Amino acid sequence: MWWKKLGVALLLVVASSQYVQSQQSKVLCYYDAANFLIEGLGKVSLADIDTALPFCTHLVYGYAGIDVETNKAVSRQPNLDLDTGKGNYRAVTQLKTKYPSLKVLLGLGGYKFSEPSIKYLTLLESGAARITFINSVYSLVKTYGFDGIDLEWQFPQNKPKKVRSKVGSVWHGFKKVFSGDSVLDEKADEHREEFTALLRELKNAFRADGFQLGITVLPHVNSSIFMDIPAIINYLDFVNIAAYDQQTPFRNPKEADHAAPLYELSDRVPGNNVDGLVRQWLTSNAPASKLIVSIPTFGRGWKLTSDSGLTGVPPLAADGASSPGPQLQSEGFYSWAEVCAMLPNPSNTALKGAEAPLRKVGDPTKRFGSYAFRLPDSNGEHGVWVSYEDPDTAGNKAGYVKAKSLGGIAISDLSYDDFRGTCAGEKFPILHVINITVARIEPALPMCTHLIYGYAQVDPATNRLSPRNASLELDAGKGYYRDVTSLKSRFPGLKVFLSVGGNRDVMPKGIFQKYLSLLESENARKAFIASAYATLKTYGFDGLDLAWQFPQTKPKRIRAWSGQLWHSFKKLFTGDSILDPKAEEHREQFVSLVRDLKTAFQADQFELMYTHLPHVNHTVFLNVSQLKDNLDYVNVAAYDQQTSVRNPKEADYFAPLYELTDRVPGNSVDGMVNVWSSQGMPLNKIVVGIAAYGRGWKMVEESGTTGIPPVRVEGPSEEGGFTQTPGFYSFGEVCFRLRNYTALSPKSMMDPTLTNVEDPTGRFGPYAFRIPTAKQNGVWISYENPASVGHKAAYVRAKGLAGVSINDLALDDYRGQYFEEKFPIVRALLMNSKPG
Ligand SMILES: *[C@@H]1O[C@H](CO)[C@@H](O)[C@H](O)[C@H]1NC(C)=O
Ligand SMILES: *[C@@H]1O[C@H](CO)[C@@H](O)[C@H](O)[C@H]1NC(C)=O
Ligand SMILES: *[C@@H]1O[C@H](CO)[C@@H](O)[C@H](O)[C@H]1NC(C)=O
Ligand SMILES: *[C@@H]1O[C@H](CO)[C@@H](O)[C@H](O)[C@H]1NC(C)=O
Ligand SMILES: *[C@@H]1O[C@H](CO)[C@@H](O)[C@H](O)[C@H]1NC(C)=O
Ligand SMILES: *[C@@H]1O[C@H](CO)[C@@H](O)[C@H](O)[C@H]1NC(C)=O
Repeated sequence: MWWKKLGVALLLVVASSQYVQSQQSKVLCYYDAANFLIEGLGKVSLADIDTALPFCTHLVYGYAGIDVETNKAVSRQPNLDLDTGKGNYRAVTQLKTKYPSLKVLLGLGGYKFSEPSIKYLTLLESGAARITFINSVYSLVKTYGFDGIDLEWQFPQNKPKKVRSKVGSVWHGFKKVFSGDSVLDEKADEHREEFTALLRELKNAFRADGFQLGITVLPHVNSSIFMDIPAIINYLDFVNIAAYDQQTPFRNPKEADHAAPLYELSDRVPGNNVDGLVRQWLTSNAPASKLIVSIPTFGRGWKLTSDSGLTGVPPLAADGASSPGPQLQSEGFYSWAEVCAMLPNPSNTALKGAEAPLRKVGDPTKRFGSYAFRLPDSNGEHGVWVSYEDPDTAGNKAGYVKAKSLGGIAISDLSYDDFRGTCAGEKFPILHVINITVARIEPALPMCTHLIYGYAQVDPATNRLSPRNASLELDAGKGYYRDVTSLKSRFPGLKVFLSVGGNRDVMPKGIFQKYLSLLESENARKAFIASAYATLKTYGFDGLDLAWQFPQTKPKRIRAWSGQLWHSFKKLFTGDSILDPKAEEHREQFVSLVRDLKTAFQADQFELMYTHLPHVNHTVFLNVSQLKDNLDYVNVAAYDQQTSVRNPKEADYFAPLYELTDRVPGNSVDGMVNVWSSQGMPLNKIVVGIAAYGRGWKMVEESGTTGIPPVRVEGPSEEGGFTQTPGFYSFGEVCFRLRNYTALSPKSMMDPTLTNVEDPTGRFGPYAFRIPTAKQNGVWISYENPASVGHKAAYVRAKGLAGVSINDLALDDYRGQYFEEKFPIVRALLMNSKPG
């Protein structure tokens, strides 16, 4: 790629282990291609699901079926799937060239209510039929380049059970009436053994090619009856538990109830919930890491009648499925976008009858899911009750999966998530809430040369480099170090560094002390070097980044608010020389540390970088002429020049490219780069650090009304939802606040009051502000956007510097919520590094 050829290094800083943590978790995204055959709003094509794929580890393309005559697996929609038709099988497997880490599986069987299970049972019974079937499956997978299959075998379903009798007695009184399950299938024992044989034979057929084999346990299939869990589990890469449709208007037309509860509700059929089904597998010794929980992106709706009562509390009497929605046009079955449109929003509050909004009932217990309803009118019309999944309840299920260390999550189905973003402006909101975090950074990695994993620390007792959290990062724990270096196999050419130290803004005062005392003893330095070398070597890192924590320069005032300029106050703030009385020794000792590290790294060609953190004074702590030959890069973190923590009373540009008048000299990208280069650091070793975030302060009455910085302020502004840190916003959060919403959801009403001020000079960056009102606090935010980072990239190119680094990838708009594409900051950097 051109920027690699040019030797422009685009470095990335991943500040926290949380961003690689779910590396091994699967996100199975289901796409039932039959949805392409629907006409109208419900039609969903492969192109429509493309933007979801970076968030998926697996795409399951459904569904192939069984031909009863031949016992062969066949496409159910040949005109769409096969090369003789639209060629979707090939198109879907070719998505792997665009998303190299995506696995594409063929879904076989599936959940079609009307289809009889008998042919699935008959097939099991004959060894010859199984062989024919397996050969046909192998051939489909091999021919079209799938990575394996998800087998959704249609065993007979349990009979529906009544939840409650109308007269009020609870379900167990009726238990005996509905005990017919054992006779669901008189040959259940044989079928169970034959199913084990089928999976064993499939696994054997797949082994040489390494194809994956997973199963989906369809709703109401009793795995105690049909599956010998200990016998089959070793043949399977995953077991997807379809813990939804516990109650549907087709199975239970007379009783509306939660369709996909996480936990058991009182007085319900036992086991019909996520937790119950997961436990059934765990108690049969299935490893947690193979279990996948399916999250539906759809809701189930019933018609309410005058017998349904007034409270809406389930279970409640109902009269079959509710009316179809505009998209799926299916009775009692709604996509999330359809459900969202029925919930109260500005465009439906005034509507009446069948258009009137439903009353929404959230689930503060986080155990059962949300529902919404509208009572019938006086003519008994327009009553509806819908049980549904929304991003909040899906997040609760994701939390359950994480807490139980299960293998991952399935989204069933991408077609029913809000793929157009009509609900709240965000596409695939249910998929996104799952936060399987490796997916956040992966789409950016093809654009990067280096991934910097941060941060390791110094153990003050031993002076050794040590992980921040051994139980997460080391092999003896969850192995994140190895996860992150193993990304290299999927992104050839990527180098992965381990960073030690890091930004102190978030750390307790005086933390740098251990970084200084380590320098003072030769034995301590040796212990550090030996441990750093061993860590790189053991885990396969390519280099070390010393984000060394030297004491920071004291904050300085910009202006006196009586109107005088800063320089008249200069003499009051000259205390820097006493930041560290032993600065001179530390400067020499740091030179030794870097030299000895370089020597230790020589044989393995590990690279060495120094990250110059904000507010570290070069003159005090660094002898550049002595360091320059032993460092491969210096990463100049030219941001946080002003923060609400350091300067609570004055808001100003936090990362200007050039120096502003009447400011502390040197606190700009250009100022910092010039210090390094004037002291002899070669330009092609200097990397400019860029923040993918913004800094905010609270504007008050004294702040004036112009917003022009520096602005008199009063501490940090309110925290945003993502970083949850006052005065600190990810780029996504900044965009969220700035966005000019016209749309629907209550969320979107946020902050139309902010005034945005772009910087056409490209020298200082944009800012946004709101003067305080009776209703809202004031805010002043300095931030980066694609235009401002583009100017920095152009500066880097014009000067012939080594490249740029981004702190931090996860703070960019990694979901692509606010721009056409994901990672707009990273993309802007690349665009503007391009020559000519
Ligand atoms: C599943 O089958 C077992 C064995 O027949 C039975 O004990 C159990 O109650 C069934 N579970 C459900 C949820 O029907
Ligand atoms: C998703 O990320 C957000 C922000 O980091 C966090 O608040 C939330 O708890 C995460 N959800 C899950 C299910 O991990
Ligand atoms: C380390 O990670 C484990 C596992 O996630 C967590 O339980 C523990 O609290 C973490 N320890 C620290 C010190 O953060
Ligand atoms: C850095 O330290 C030197 C020597 O103490 C001092 O002259 C200079 O002003 C300091 N620079 C900054 C930006 O504080
Ligand atoms: C840097 O090291 C060289 C060589 O030891 C020395 O001559 C020079 O004075 C040092 N510079 C500083 C600023 O300490
Ligand atoms: C928001 O959009 C409206 C209508 O397009 C426009 O008139 C207004 O200037 C915009 N506001 C901002 C802050 O961009």
